[in-house]
Amino acid sequence: MSRMRIIHTSAINTAYRTPWAREHLEDYYVKLAHKDGYRCRSAYKLLELQQRFHLLKPNISVIDLGASPGSWSQVAADIIFKTHRQLNNTLIAVDIQPIDHINNVTVLSGHDMTLDTTRDKIKSLLPSGVEVVMSDMAPSPTGIKDIDNHKIIELCRIAMSLAKDVLVDDGAFVCKVWQSSLSDKLQKELSDSFKSTQLVTTKATKKGSREKYIVSRGFKVLGRGKYL
Ligand SMILES: C[S@@+](CC[C@H](N)C(=O)[O-])C[C@H]1O[C@@H](n2cnc3c(N)ncnc32)[C@H](O)[C@@H]1O
Repeated sequence: MSRMRIIHTSAINTAYRTPWAREHLEDYYVKLAHKDGYRCRSAYKLLELQQRFHLLKPNISVIDLGASPGSWSQVAADIIFKTHRQLNNTLIAVDIQPIDHINNVTVLSGHDMTLDTTRDKIKSLLPSGVEVVMSDMAPSPTGIKDIDNHKIIELCRIAMSLAKDVLVDDGAFVCKVWQSSLSDKLQKELSDSFKSTQLVTTKATKKGSREKYIVSRGFKVLGRGKYL
């Protein structure tokens, strides 16, 4: 699919002056994202998960949590709206930060997932259940490992709770974690509600990062609980 690619060379020249920016702009996946028209390098993490697990399929419904700037939604939209759009086929992208328009995607910018009002709004937008809930949400790191681990797991738990309310039978849930004893515990809990859960590293994850994805497949709708 062709996308318009705009590179502001003057901005790049200025940005190149800091070591972080130099490293970022020389990053293989950043360059690839510019070339392929993705909003950020994270696209390749979802593409890799997709290649391994085939989570996204044409005409399904998906919720993308922590979607800004939008590369996961770009990847998902390319797949689920590949053929003509069905009436009940939807992709909802949610983030506290702004997300620019993506064709066919319902964008909830400036929406904090820790608030009940955001979760109620998402549910009100769903015509029926969804096949995939994916969370790439990450808090701003404080640099203090324990605090950061707690914060990201809190976001995962919010995403997991939403997933348990809205997933269809056999649906899938993906969430980003920083590997710790807390993420191990979360994975164990997820294994009660899904037929399989796996902890996965992607090649696009930066070297030295503790970032992993828990990929849970085969949601057991009977374990849904309060909505039964
Ligand atoms: C790694 S980025 C996501 C990148 C995105 N998957 C993409 O491909 O463009 C993590 C995102 O989580 C979002 N986030 C963190 N806490 C959040 C919250 N409480 N509610 C909604 N989004 C949140 C951040 O604003 C940030 O945009």
